[in-house]
Amino acid sequence: HWSAEEKQLITSVWSKVNVEECGAEALARLLIVYPWTQRFFDNFGNLSSPTAIIGNPKVRAHGKKVLTSFGEAIKNLENLKATYAKLSELHCEKLHVDPENFRLLGDILIIVLAAHFTKDFTPACQATWQKLVGVVAHALAYKYH
Ligand code: HEM
Repeated sequence: HWSAEEKQLITSVWSKVNVEECGAEALARLLIVYPWTQRFFDNFGNLSSPTAIIGNPKVRAHGKKVLTSFGEAIKNLENLKATYAKLSELHCEKLHVDPENFRLLGDILIIVLAAHFTKDFTPACQATWQKLVGVVAHALAYKYH
């Protein structure tokens, strides 16, 4: 559950996030830093180097899709399991993504936000976002339980 202050910290950052830029950057970083995650995206074309990954339009488009989906979480903070029930089914039962990877992507998103917002991404802000990416990862992994 979320305090008024936490909700405020989440929405104040979110309102300034460029979903396309940050989504693309987060997914590209996931694929570069944790290369085993590339195997889920073998239909995305050239992922052979960091430059190729960053320039890959499918990575960009999918990163935007993933971060847009985070926006749904923010609109439905009290109801995350239901919000992500369908996506959990997709990632767990169909794609077989190890839920550890949800946590990795969440941590990378934090790094991307910190790099973009620098001083404005305060420790209090980070703490709240860590909680958010944690509950999102948990909700996405729900169908494994
Ligand atoms: C598809 C969200 C993490 C692999 C999707 C879609 C969304 C989404 C919204 C599109 C679903 C549709 O088209 O109906 C998220 C969120 C994540 C996350 C919010 C947060 C942690 C991951 C991770 C991986 C992954 C960590 C793998 C390492 C995939 C794949 C698809 C997909 C392979 C299908 C891509 C395609 O072929 O179009 N995800 N995802 N996702 N996701 Fe995720």
